[in-house]
Amino acid sequence: MSLKPKKTDFPTSQVRRYLEPGPIVLVSSAHDGRRNIMTMGWHTVMEFTPSLVGCVISSANHSFEMIRQSRECVINLPTTKLTDIVVGIGNTTGAEIDKFEHFGLTAEKAERVGAPLIAECHANFECRLHDDGLVGKYNFFIFEVVKAHVAASPKHPETLHYTGDGVFVVSGKVISRRSLFRPEMLWSIGRLLSARPRIDGSGERNRSCGESWHMTSTDRFRRNAAAHGHSIARAPFE
Ligand SMILES: Cc1cc2nc3c(=O)[nH]c(=O)nc-3n(C[C@H](O)[C@H](O)[C@H](O)COP(=O)(O)O)c2cc1C
Repeated sequence: MSLKPKKTDFPTSQVRRYLEPGPIVLVSSAHDGRRNIMTMGWHTVMEFTPSLVGCVISSANHSFEMIRQSRECVINLPTTKLTDIVVGIGNTTGAEIDKFEHFGLTAEKAERVGAPLIAECHANFECRLHDDGLVGKYNFFIFEVVKAHVAASPKHPETLHYTGDGVFVVSGKVISRRSLFRPEMLWSIGRLLSARPRIDGSGERNRSCGESWHMTSTDRFRRNAAAHGHSIARAPFE
């Protein structure tokens, strides 16, 4: 069987169908005595520690100002049991209705932020705005997850992944290739991210970590890990 599928041209504006990361999440917020929820698919993990997540929140959404002004939100992870509610929340606006009430969802008090948790979701991540430097240009908010609540089971919940046009794919089969990973490679992504050179406010490269992201080789990584007394046996992707 050939591993090379036959391809045709595809519109670049539609590549989101293949690249949208998912899972679809529900972002809850509170501001000025009001609460709200929006559906969101455009998010990306950016760092392990601090735990950073970047999110595109359109300025046309009611949630935008609520989150920008309160500087907080909760990222809630729904499963397929909430599919119709997820779609309903993404097709209504908090400017007109209270979505908790309208969709029969339970708002629970968060521990570290003013925005409410959605009790019916599998997980709730309390977030504080970490960096709003790209909000003006790209509506891109960088949040730090400051508290996480996750259901004990199932370990791999059935989540929704949006492909555009009102169509979702659902996470399903779990496959493991753990035996093919070198332990240091399982661990190294977070290590490399936190070791990459940063650009500080003056535009100067901060080379205090002594390594460049691109130059860091596995061997150099191994040496550094050992020099700093880190164990490389632990895998973060369990
Ligand atoms: C599957 C799905 C994914 C969505 N992803 C995003 C997103 O990533 N960013 C965004 O700004 N809006 C997204 N939306 C649109 C908002 O959820 C929608 O505009 C919502 O009505 C905003 O609610 P609000 O006005 O109460 O804030 C998505 C909607 C759906 C149905």
